Amino acid sequence: MKIAFIIGTRPEIIKMSPLIDEVKKEGLDYILIHTGQHYDQEMSEQFFQDLELPQPDYNIGVGSTTHGKQTAIMLEGIEEILSSENPDIVLVEGDTNAVMAGALAAGKMHIAIGHVESGLRSYDKTMPEEINRVVADICSQLFFVPTEESAINLIFEGLNPHDIHITGNTVVDAVIRNLKIAEKGSGLELDLERDYITLTLHRAENTDNPERLISIINALLELNETRIIFPVHPRTIKTLKRLDLYHRLVQSDHIELIKPVGYLDFLVLLSHTRLVITDSGGIQEEAITMDLPCITLRYNTERPETVTAGGNILVGTDKDLIVSRAKEILGNEELYQKMSQAINPYGDGTTSQKIVEIILKSQHEGKLKITPPENIGGMEGRFILNVQENIDVSTYEDKNPKSRVIMAFENHKAVFPHASLPLKGKTIILERSQSNI
Ligand code: UD1
Ligand code: UDP
Repeated sequence: MKIAFIIGTRPEIIKMSPLIDEVKKEGLDYILIHTGQHYDQEMSEQFFQDLELPQPDYNIGVGSTTHGKQTAIMLEGIEEILSSENPDIVLVEGDTNAVMAGALAAGKMHIAIGHVESGLRSYDKTMPEEINRVVADICSQLFFVPTEESAINLIFEGLNPHDIHITGNTVVDAVIRNLKIAEKGSGLELDLERDYITLTLHRAENTDNPERLISIINALLELNETRIIFPVHPRTIKTLKRLDLYHRLVQSDHIELIKPVGYLDFLVLLSHTRLVITDSGGIQEEAITMDLPCITLRYNTERPETVTAGGNILVGTDKDLIVSRAKEILGNEELYQKMSQAINPYGDGTTSQKIVEIILKSQHEGKLKITPPENIGGMEGRFILNVQENIDVSTYEDKNPKSRVIMAFENHKAVFPHASLPLKGKTIILERSQSNI
């Protein structure tokens, strides 16, 4: 068994790290391919050091350029590496350009793809990440989804529930594994004893839209009763300087602009934070994992579970709404406690272990070999059925070998058809294949 990990940016390095550890622990053969999309010391190498990761076997060195060019260079580089390395499976994580390029390259070469953090959807195609996620999922064979909601997104797109594995998110593994290490020695030269908000901002739809960016910055300036620590993404520094906003932030007494910090330091920063304000995907997950109320500077989120759980509030980019929500959370202890106590939907820190077990089992069952279908026939159709029988999904499918339960509904709500799901009283959607001719 040989696994090829593809990574390109800060969050992929962080979220793949527990999985790389797990693969090493199992003694499996693996290679690490870095596309080089993030290349600054504090956006890439720092994380290899913090997470004690092996250096990449390959670095494509794509750097920063337009989406098309970046994807094309990665695609070419990854294809070349995969054809000489011949892995059994390629693992991609999340929704960056590296994920789309990795999945496209491997898919066309008939190499199995495992998509870690699959199934997230914002349903906003202006986001480059949404296109990347959807394309990666079309190419993949094994879907490691964090929650039941993300599993259901995939089923609605026609994917086979048997290939979808609800594993939680490796971000929880990363937090649990590194928080204790982080607390032992932080290099942060900041007074963390005073209350503060941790802020991050880098999403293209905010930084590339001057109106939105100005509105967010004005909100931060108006929140002048609270200290704000802002590790600034390199993308954001550039735009802030271009729009002449950088000096306004620097001149304010309550906002501390710092360079992006390493993962261990960021965990320390978070662990002393009162409130998180962000447009990051991973930080919405980390906030709920670390019992921190979160305000998200977006109009939608592919992490709706954090909102449903009560730990995260979407505010978009309206200045007044950002200010009023932040003040409300900080000033209302009852609301604050309620948000902090939201149940983490992303698992218990055993996601990477589960993923490795599923990969090994899939290989054992021959599921990593991509071959054309050999049965003549096709789909007879999709049917709705109200089940009265006392039976679960797996027994139903054993008794009806040409049928597959692809979705179940309980009280009109879609539920994932787990093998052990009792079907009595539920409405199900069935897919039936035709008999061989
Ligand atoms: C990328 C991902 C985004 C992810 C983010 C994590 C895509 C489309 N976007 O966005 O989903 O949330 O990474 O942080 O894949 N830059 C540097 N040094 C670096 C890297 C970038 O200065 O090491 C600057 C360059 O000016 C570059 C800009 O940041 O043009 C944007 O970088 P890019 O990798 O294109 O996108 P991110 O905004 O980082
Ligand atoms: N992070 C970090 N240092 C920072 C800011 C963020 O280590 O200065 C980590 C954070 O802990 C999280 C990840 O970077 O795990 C999130 O990355 P980012 O917000 O860039 O990307 P996204 O998750 O939105 O794709």
